[in-house]
Amino acid sequence: MKVIHSINQMFDYSRKIKGAGKTIGFVPTMGALHQGHLSLIKRARGDCQIVVVSIFVNPAQFGPGEDFKRYPRNFVADKKICQKVKVDFLFAPRVKEIYPQGYCSYVRVKGLEDKLCGVFRPGYFQGVTTIVHKLFNVVQPDIAYFGQKDFQQAVIIKRMVRDLNIPVKIRVLPIVREKDGLAMSSRNKYLNRQQRKEAPILFQSLQLAKEALKKGERNSAKIISRMKKMIERVPEAKIDYVSIVDPETLEDVRLVKGRVLVALAVRIGKARLIDNIITDSTD
Ligand code: PAF
Repeated sequence: MKVIHSINQMFDYSRKIKGAGKTIGFVPTMGALHQGHLSLIKRARGDCQIVVVSIFVNPAQFGPGEDFKRYPRNFVADKKICQKVKVDFLFAPRVKEIYPQGYCSYVRVKGLEDKLCGVFRPGYFQGVTTIVHKLFNVVQPDIAYFGQKDFQQAVIIKRMVRDLNIPVKIRVLPIVREKDGLAMSSRNKYLNRQQRKEAPILFQSLQLAKEALKKGERNSAKIISRMKKMIERVPEAKIDYVSIVDPETLEDVRLVKGRVLVALAVRIGKARLIDNIITDSTD
């Protein structure tokens, strides 16, 4: 496995690989790798001849007062994991090279970026789309892999790729969960023991929504209210949102028909956790 820090070096390797007619699978990450990332890397390994993983804690997607400084970083452990699962290139660019002095170009996916998490984290998705577009330019992947846990991120990136004619296929893979249902996330590290015990309430509330829909409830407001009550049983839980939306437009759905995304963001202690399920009320 080659570890690369320089943009030009990565760009040259990618150009050579593509020139030789080989396919590149790309998994962009912010490090602190867990089983969720591993499922993406393994899929890339199966689909493509060359696998590139990037690790870059992107300052542009953290707002003032958010967790950029304390975001978990463990390059040595991440490198070992990547070696083990036979990653070909680990690309870890430096902030100064990604955002040089005078940097002022940003990518925005208007409308979609203002919904759900965008309401609570202004500027967040602009930071994500900008870095992902930049990484695509450097790595030149055939296929890029994202987790469904960041559902809104995946919808926005798919739209960016479509709108800007970026020649990359986007694959979105299922959420990987702990045994008790908690979605894997680098931010789970912020939970203390008690909070970690309580965090599966998020998944349980999504299950409640699924059951309610299965039983024929069609009124989103009623389902959301029951979910909120359940989550509020954990005194430390502070709900940012619980929403039932159209999975493509992310618009609120009042009366459920067909496929919907049930999504939530809840802060427990220092961790802001997100989770979601796609469910089809006609199933
Ligand atoms: O999902 C993430 O870890 C990040 O948002 C991404 C896609 C690596 C961009 O920084």
